Amino acid sequence: MVGAVSDGVDFKWNVSLCKHLSSAGCSSTHSSRSFQLITAAESEATYFFLFVFCDSGQLRKSRLKHSSMRLAAIVAGVKMFAAQQLNRATQLILICSLLWIEAPGLSMSSLVSSQTEDFIDWWQHAVFYQIYPRSFKDSNGDGIGDLQGIISKLPYLAETGITATWLSPIFQSPMVDFGYDISDYRAIQPEYGSMADFDQLVHKASSLGIKIILDFVPNHSSDQHEWFKKSVARDPVYENFYVWADGKKNEQGILQPPNNWLSVFYGSAWEWNEQRQQYYLHQFTKEQPDLNYRNPAVVQAMDEVLLFWLNKGVAGFRIDAVNHLYEREDLADEPLSGKTADPLSYEYTKHVHTKDLPEVLAMVQHWRQLLDDYSAKHPDGVTRIMMTEAYADLHVLMDYYETADGVRGSQMPFNFHFITDVDCDSDARDFVYNVEKWLIYMPRGHAANWVMGNHDNPRVASRFGSASVDAMNMLLLTLPGIAVTYNGEELGMEDYREISWEDTVDPPARNAGKKDYKKVSRDPERTPFQWSNASNAGFSTAAKTWLPVNPNYLGLNLAAQQEAARSHYKVYKALIELRKLPTLRRGRFSIEPLSRAVFALRRTLKDYETIVTIINVSAKEQLINLTDFINGPHKLIVEVAGVESTYNPGQALSSSALTLAPHEGLICKLIEA
Ligand code: GLC
Repeated sequence: MVGAVSDGVDFKWNVSLCKHLSSAGCSSTHSSRSFQLITAAESEATYFFLFVFCDSGQLRKSRLKHSSMRLAAIVAGVKMFAAQQLNRATQLILICSLLWIEAPGLSMSSLVSSQTEDFIDWWQHAVFYQIYPRSFKDSNGDGIGDLQGIISKLPYLAETGITATWLSPIFQSPMVDFGYDISDYRAIQPEYGSMADFDQLVHKASSLGIKIILDFVPNHSSDQHEWFKKSVARDPVYENFYVWADGKKNEQGILQPPNNWLSVFYGSAWEWNEQRQQYYLHQFTKEQPDLNYRNPAVVQAMDEVLLFWLNKGVAGFRIDAVNHLYEREDLADEPLSGKTADPLSYEYTKHVHTKDLPEVLAMVQHWRQLLDDYSAKHPDGVTRIMMTEAYADLHVLMDYYETADGVRGSQMPFNFHFITDVDCDSDARDFVYNVEKWLIYMPRGHAANWVMGNHDNPRVASRFGSASVDAMNMLLLTLPGIAVTYNGEELGMEDYREISWEDTVDPPARNAGKKDYKKVSRDPERTPFQWSNASNAGFSTAAKTWLPVNPNYLGLNLAAQQEAARSHYKVYKALIELRKLPTLRRGRFSIEPLSRAVFALRRTLKDYETIVTIINVSAKEQLINLTDFINGPHKLIVEVAGVESTYNPGQALSSSALTLAPHEGLICKLIEA
């Protein structure tokens, strides 16, 4: 069972109540039922009670203090008490509610049904669409995607039903790692546009009901950042902004890096700096020096970056490579993994001193506090959120949500299990296990998230096979919680694996060399978006695009899929529409393998129709009997069928004998037989 939607609820209440306390008696356009409840409250005393009562869940979670709101409530209450404006009943309620603040073991979320529509915050059931700006849409013909390009395609997102998008970095950068090497955290990369373009983007997105999430890259800056230049020069303010260390002399007296730490992108994680006469740490390319989070000035500087973009109207951040933030201070060598003989491969060592250190969690919690404080101070009802990128152990990720002692961190510790833990060889049991394990470990009161693809990994069509595109989107969009789609997956875009060595630009691929680059290159999943069959797939009018367009665009493009009677895009759009059903928004969930080849998941909600998703992950046709899984004989009515399916929406099927084609996915509603 997954209830999973109460994080953020407390905010909605607090924000509504705070707003109301400060303008007692005012009517409001706020539409949530929780707010209407408050506006319906008859006296200030009543909503004072409600405020204290609702806030108490947060108060006991000592991190979320909202002290100004609390103080306002207490002052208001005491004043009313003193002025004898409270009747007996309210006085009693007031005393009880103050006691409640200290009551152990109870929380707001345990009292409020997480299954009601009022308590689903904007992000808890959203589809987050990841845009890779460089490849999305080029507006000025330079072969590189840009902000005006994104702006021109916002109506496409809205028409598809997308309500939130996260953008890979758009900040000033020498583009060694295509924006993940930032030289000014507060400036827009000129080839992407200007700050005015960004403001226009936020404004237009907002008018279309789309929230913008930015990529925040805290672990490292570019070596071209002025902070790094000043650190090299030992400017006292910046001297310790990065991780610097002296080298060690070997037996021949030759200076070596301080230890055996390795870069994710191959080779030593240390680079010698001639001017400063020290090594600096870089967990990615040597042009991406690691910032030093043990220096409070760095923490402060990055907080200011977050506030800068929050003030520009973004709804939150995707936090890049977060588990790399800290390294062990004594610089001890990492143990060998035994996985490879290549001492320069990242796989050569176990990253016990450079990844997932406990300090990371404290920093995530610190940023959560910053976002929560910001949301509380801006009573527009929008919870600012963070999604964290960490390829890490499940236990570690669950602590990001909330630690055992109830301290909350990331709303969305990215769940990469569909990328890392299943592939085209996985059977139905593997898929079921993959889903269940997240839900079993996830602490109560949080929203699950499912990431089907991103710019660092092969695309769905290339991982699972192009025949599985619809089934994987069906799975993604009918699971409980948040879905994350990488741009192009709605069309079933494929990796372009034939990019030549000469055209290859991805740093780890360049590091791997001509012989091995294809094994690690991320360029194939980053090729330009295929809008139409016009030249460069309608992405750009340039003679040459920054990465080649996949030649399959002539057949595989959005325009063609919008025109076709059936297409991956139409399936995807139908799925987003279907997600609006109360059953899919907040219904209970179960999943089971029906055989090694087929699994089914079911969403049920009292008084609403049950929805069942059935997926054949095998390459063979399967005849299945769903009767047991759905508790008795029911008729199935097809809601969504894949491109190649012989079934049509609206068609009635028998639950006892259902044939699924190879890799077919099918979504049905249940009708009592
Ligand atoms: C993250 C990004 C990846 C980038 C790396 C270094 O993993 O997703 O694209 O190369 O961090 O910033």
